Amino acid sequence: MLVVSLAVPAFAADDGPGEAGQLFATTCGWCHSDGGRMAGKGPQLMDSKRDDDFLRNRIKTGKQGAMPAFGGAFSDVQIDGLVKYIRALKPHEG
Ligand code: HEC
Repeated sequence: MLVVSLAVPAFAADDGPGEAGQLFATTCGWCHSDGGRMAGKGPQLMDSKRDDDFLRNRIKTGKQGAMPAFGGAFSDVQIDGLVKYIRALKPHEG
């Protein structure tokens, strides 16, 4: 069942894209380009000067007319994973 396969206890904080990276690519990537490294319809997220609470809150509640709210779609654990993913973003090598 789908629900079971999604019940992963924690996000791996490794350098690979990981589960949060996949989530980002499929859900956020069409607005936050290049995995969040570049501005698209939404701003660049890499090197954000915002604090974690702001990022978490923006992901949960979105911004009217600009970004959908994901608080209903994702668990707190998933949203934390997305914040960690954003913090870990680095420019592509080479
Ligand atoms: C429909 C396009 C769209 C999608 C999909 C989208 N965003 Fe956004 N996002 C935006 C826009 C536009 C803004 C700028 C909002 C504003 O004016 O403050 C934004 C802002 C943000 C911010 C705040 C950045 C800052 O410095 O102010 C974060 C964090 C963020 N998005 C993360 C995500 C994540 C994570 C996802 C996927 C779960 C996602 N977004 C999906 C369009 C989108």
